[in-house]
Amino acid sequence: MSKLYESQKLALWYFSVALVLFGAQLLFGLLAAYQYLNPDFLYGVLDFSINRMLHINAMIVWLIMGFMGGVYWFLPIETGREVVGIKLAKLAFFVLVAAVAVVVLVYLLVQTGKGDFFTLWFITEGREYIEAPRWADWGIVAVMLVFYFNVVATVIKSKKLTGILGVLIIDLLALAGLYLAGMYFTPNISVDQFWWWWVVHLWVEATWEVLVGVLMAWALMTVLGTPRKIVEAWLYLEVFLVFGTGILGLGHHYFWIGTPEYWLGIGGFFSALEPIPLVAMVVHAIYDAGSHKLRAANKPALFWIMAQAFGNFVGAGMWGFMHTLPQINLYSHGTQITPAHGHLAFFGAYVTANLVLMYIAIQRVRAPEGPALDSRAWKLAYVGFVITIFGMVGALTVAGFAQIFVERAVGGATWSAYIAGQEHPWVREPMYWRFGFGVLFLLSYLILIYDMLTIGKRAATATEVKPA
Ligand code: HEM
Ligand code: HEM
Ligand SMILES: [Fe+2]
Repeated sequence: MSKLYESQKLALWYFSVALVLFGAQLLFGLLAAYQYLNPDFLYGVLDFSINRMLHINAMIVWLIMGFMGGVYWFLPIETGREVVGIKLAKLAFFVLVAAVAVVVLVYLLVQTGKGDFFTLWFITEGREYIEAPRWADWGIVAVMLVFYFNVVATVIKSKKLTGILGVLIIDLLALAGLYLAGMYFTPNISVDQFWWWWVVHLWVEATWEVLVGVLMAWALMTVLGTPRKIVEAWLYLEVFLVFGTGILGLGHHYFWIGTPEYWLGIGGFFSALEPIPLVAMVVHAIYDAGSHKLRAANKPALFWIMAQAFGNFVGAGMWGFMHTLPQINLYSHGTQITPAHGHLAFFGAYVTANLVLMYIAIQRVRAPEGPALDSRAWKLAYVGFVITIFGMVGALTVAGFAQIFVERAVGGATWSAYIAGQEHPWVREPMYWRFGFGVLFLLSYLILIYDMLTIGKRAATATEVKPA
């Protein structure tokens, strides 16, 4: 077996930092969930607002780092050469990690205070999911430029512009360009929100979805040996459907923020069509896995591929569709239905995709020619994750339904109806369930880490000690 490309070694660094941040995400999530039960806990020391912010910022950063790792992993395989500017790529990696560390430290040290241009530049921008201060924004832009340059230059030098790479290059340009929309500052909250959604929605429901399509196309070729012609045909169809529905689907966030009324129709119509490509992806995965009778040399990667297809459809498609029509969203907007969907969609579509990439890398490193990659721990982590994410999401969904009835439909969305909703047992009790399942989710994470550190090791040492 040939040696790893430098680019693939860099991918392993990305995956490692991503996994550490995944752990940090869960710790801050658990603190925030506990503060729901006991609001005085750490009040004034580590506020809910900070825990929540660190929870979701860590998520965005680790998922993106995992995707970058995935691109650095597959790029040399696809082009048959080392990535151009690999030294620059490594430098950019350290810049990114250092910037993230400084941003987190500042979040923790300066938790409250006034907001002005100084704080915008140096402490936080205050836009959910992309709170990083402006200096870090520009750092992220620089790192992304290096990344983009490396991808494009490697493809040009290798003269191997495959269909998958073409989609990747166009998609990354859109993904990075949209980030700039999140840096536009205006004191008008409606205008601000208008542009902010360009990042949040057009990332997760358009450009990330296509990026994951690219990565899963490579994953299917690696894990199941699916022919390039088949994955590329599916990829083009998915890109067409994802962009066709997702771009104007943006309107489902423009129902009640002061944007013109025509968004009710546009947003409702196009976002209701968004599950269609997600169904297509399930069909694609079942078709490919079925034609191999679920056999593959990389068991965990195969099962996480299936989880990705179903999770994307259930979390984004079903839990998204549930509240996307304006007639329903009028009642459900901003209730616990929203985080129920947010958790299931991010986990189902993007955590799963990251785990596929990581297990592919682990197999290549530990047991490239050995027996099938398998263990008991990955199965335990897999079942644990699936049960506990549905446990958390189920609890939030129940609470959300109760809020819809008690606070909105019956109470008429007054302030006292809001309080009545918050005090209702069907809203309060699920918060205990969420916390409990959250603890078990963390346990599944620990099993996953144990597995990633050990799986395939025995096979690797067995081949190493073979008599010469
Ligand atoms: C993987 C893809 C997706 C992810 C990761 C995702 C994630 C999220 C998150 C985190 C929020 C909450 C945003 C906030 O903080 O306010 C949200 C809101 C929303 N999502 Fe998605 N989503 C995805 C796909 C979809 C799809 C396909 C639909 C529709 C079919 C949808 C419908 C909605 C709606 C209507 C809201 C607004 C909820 C409200 O009014 O409070 N999402 N999504
Ligand atoms: C130990 C497990 C977890 C716990 C206890 C937890 C807890 C929480 C809490 C308390 C919030 C704040 C909710 C609020 O403002 O009302 C939150 C928000 C959020 N979490 Fe988690 N979380 C966990 C795992 C995850 C995972 C695995 C993901 C996705 C990969 C995730 C994604 C999100 C998102 C997107 C939001 C914002 C949702 C919204 O605004 O609608 N969380 N989480
Ligand atoms: Fe959306």
